[in-house]
Amino acid sequence: MGALERTVAMLLLIHIAVLFSPSFSADPFAFFDLELSYITASPLGVPQQVIAVNKKFPGPVINVTTNYNVVVNVRNNLDEDLLITWSGIQMRRSSWQDGVLGTNCPIHPKWNWTYQFQVKDQIGSFFYYPSLNMQRAAGGFGPFVVTNRDIIPIPFAMPDGDIVIMIGDWYTRNHTALRDALDNGTDLGMPDGVLINGKGPYRYNDTLVPDGIDYETIHVDPGKTYRVRVHNVGVSTCLNFRIQSHNLLLAETEGYYTSQQNYTSVDIHVGQSYSFLVTMDQNASSDYYIVASARFVNQTVWQRVTGVAVLHYSNSKGKASGPLPDPPNDLFDSSFALNQAMSIRQNVTASGARPNPQGSFHYGQINVTAVYILRSLPPVTIDGKLRATYNEISFVKPDTPIRLADAFSVKGAYKLDFPSQPLDRPPKMDRSIINATYKGFIEIILQNNDTIVQSFHMDGYSFFVVGMGIGNWTENSRGSYNRWDAISRSTVQVFAGGWTAVLVSLDNVGVWNLRSENLDRWYLGQETYMRIVNPEDTTGNKTELPVPDNVLYCGALAHLQKPQKISSTTSIRGGSKVYLILVVVLSALISILC
Ligand SMILES: *[C@@H]1O[C@H](CO)[C@@H](O)[C@H](O)[C@H]1NC(C)=O
Ligand SMILES: *[C@@H]1O[C@H](CO)[C@@H](O)[C@H](O)[C@H]1NC(C)=O
Ligand SMILES: *[C@@H]1O[C@H](CO)[C@@H](O)[C@H](O)[C@H]1NC(C)=O
Ligand SMILES: *[C@@H]1O[C@H](CO)[C@@H](O)[C@H](O)[C@H]1NC(C)=O
Ligand SMILES: *[C@@H]1O[C@H](CO)[C@@H](O)[C@H](O)[C@H]1NC(C)=O
Ligand SMILES: *[C@@H]1O[C@H](CO)[C@@H](O)[C@H](O)[C@H]1NC(C)=O
Ligand SMILES: *[C@@H]1O[C@H](CO)[C@@H](O)[C@H](O)[C@H]1NC(C)=O
Ligand SMILES: *[C@@H]1O[C@H](CO)[C@@H](O)[C@H](O)[C@H]1NC(C)=O
Ligand SMILES: *[C@@H]1O[C@H](CO)[C@@H](O)[C@H](O)[C@H]1NC(C)=O
Ligand SMILES: *[C@@H]1O[C@H](CO)[C@@H](O)[C@H](O)[C@H]1NC(C)=O
Ligand SMILES: *[C@@H]1O[C@H](CO)[C@@H](O)[C@H](O)[C@H]1NC(C)=O
Ligand SMILES: *[C@@H]1O[C@H](CO)[C@@H](O)[C@H](O)[C@H]1NC(C)=O
Repeated sequence: MGALERTVAMLLLIHIAVLFSPSFSADPFAFFDLELSYITASPLGVPQQVIAVNKKFPGPVINVTTNYNVVVNVRNNLDEDLLITWSGIQMRRSSWQDGVLGTNCPIHPKWNWTYQFQVKDQIGSFFYYPSLNMQRAAGGFGPFVVTNRDIIPIPFAMPDGDIVIMIGDWYTRNHTALRDALDNGTDLGMPDGVLINGKGPYRYNDTLVPDGIDYETIHVDPGKTYRVRVHNVGVSTCLNFRIQSHNLLLAETEGYYTSQQNYTSVDIHVGQSYSFLVTMDQNASSDYYIVASARFVNQTVWQRVTGVAVLHYSNSKGKASGPLPDPPNDLFDSSFALNQAMSIRQNVTASGARPNPQGSFHYGQINVTAVYILRSLPPVTIDGKLRATYNEISFVKPDTPIRLADAFSVKGAYKLDFPSQPLDRPPKMDRSIINATYKGFIEIILQNNDTIVQSFHMDGYSFFVVGMGIGNWTENSRGSYNRWDAISRSTVQVFAGGWTAVLVSLDNVGVWNLRSENLDRWYLGQETYMRIVNPEDTTGNKTELPVPDNVLYCGALAHLQKPQKISSTTSIRGGSKVYLILVVVLSALISILC
């Protein structure tokens, strides 16, 4: 081997070390390939097309450590456009990777596109899913776990195992049929069931559950404690989650550690994620039920909308039998649910993703710079079509992503005139977005005048859930705000006929989607965006990452898009600078040593 070859060989080894050793100071890269395609499955006993990821339903876990650069090559083998979004992951300075139509052009059928982003300042439980056209109702979702670096302690003993449970209401109609119904002005109606990890209910009752349905079994050992990460990836149903005879010790939600408390059941709204520490402290006289049942509806009528899986101890003496553990019995009393929601608080002494305590950020003492009231009403007919609104505006999906339109000076792609409160005018369809101020500290009041409980989600950010109530929000409601240890999260419920107030520090530049996470409402236009740019950054590249090299073009910029051909190089940017410098320094060192 010549000197040159030796150097090259050494360099290659170093590349691998840098890429795969998490202990390196340069932030490592982790690579994933996700291929979305249809498979036939019968989770509720009826064969249907579901969206699989790498032929699996639900999709595989993306499991990385905080600060990693995550590179995900998404291949679209569906017959329609696709984008993947990353629920709860804050794309710092890079809405280019967020995967919604206001930030990305869709990946056409048979095309692929490589996302690249760094996961920073967040440790916890998230998930990914297809964001367009109700596709999530057919699958395409999977868990996204961000673990802590070794030097950052976790505020509980290391669990003996990690279990992911994805729950969600489910229709035997596929996403195109559900879309047809909505386009036709028809409500989706009651779901056909609830799936747990892509599987139908365990046959806990011969009358209610037909024979031959494949159900999920979670295998555990007695005496051990598991971290159980639960995500509601469904269409629109809030689910009450419980494990028979076991306490759920709530430890984390959407990337923030909670003050640890035991619950016998927890309401998990559409789009929400929780980690529970569950100790296997029962005698295993039989298996135990894991239940996810529809909430805030008449249980007698909604009986079939119940997911049932099995918790199986390795020393179990028999099958689970008998009635399911009871759900909360409060159909006409929302105070229980409200109290539970507000009991989820942040552990202000636990370390976050960074070595400084989370509690050092005293959000309760910061002056609010702007207030937005977003009111949702039941769907209405606009221009002959069924539509859903915030502040009387039903959002029209962008043709050209908003920041891409800015970068190429495309005029008229959107309007910066989203009203900061309801205007009591006739509803209309528009591309109105919020002109938000970089570094502002804003209060958003979600007023739900719809007849269903809503999930509100914000991309790119977590917000402090400071208050929640029934009835109309008023200035006096501020008196009830939690200004000390409110939980920070990215998806929050808004009760029917009620309100939720959140505070957000606008420190992440870009354009970020605000939406109803209820898939039908979102599809019908209940969303907008917040455009947050640093006015001092005239080139636009200092605070915000530049347009990615591999960006897809569409709409007014479609002429810039080259037909896709397979290439072997993916561009590297962002945290990779440190990596490149490191490689250069190391190669210099090696040349000296050799
Ligand atoms: C969805 O279901 C409809 C029937 O309702 C069927 O025609 C269509 O092919 C299905 N679409 C997919 C993608 O499976
Ligand atoms: C993620 O990876 C960590 C470390 O490699 C492992 O301990 C953990 O069990 C994994 N979690 C999941 C959900 O795969
Ligand atoms: C598509 O995938 C190939 C590898 O299969 C990759 O080399 C290429 O960069 C990808 N294209 C985009 C636009 O991400
Ligand atoms: C909060 O975090 C601290 C620090 O890790 C931990 O010791 C404590 O048990 C946690 N408290 C609660 C109530 O979760
Ligand atoms: C469309 O609407 C009509 C009348 O409301 C209804 O009878 C029909 O079932 C609907 N079709 C679908 C696909 O929902
Ligand atoms: C099964 O469910 C039906 C309907 O709710 C109920 O009448 C019956 O008692 C249940 N059977 C058992 C064995 O619990
Ligand atoms: C939660 O319940 C378990 C028993 O399942 C108990 O050991 C633990 O002390 C409880 N933790 C708290 C914080 O109440
Ligand atoms: C639930 O529905 C059943 C059947 O329609 C009805 O008999 C019952 O009164 C309802 N329960 C409540 C609490 O409304
Ligand atoms: C908040 O505003 C009040 C006046 O409205 C002012 O006195 C106070 O200094 C401000 N606090 C901060 C932290 O800026
Ligand atoms: C957006 O807000 C900034 C101040 O934050 C203001 O200078 C600008 O004129 C606004 N743009 C529009 C179109 O309202
Ligand atoms: C709540 O506000 C709406 C207007 O948004 C109003 O019509 C309604 O009467 C108010 N309800 C109460 C109980 O004040
Ligand atoms: C919605 O608002 C209307 C008036 O605008 C009011 O009469 C009704 O009670 C409200 N309903 C809910 C569920 O908030």
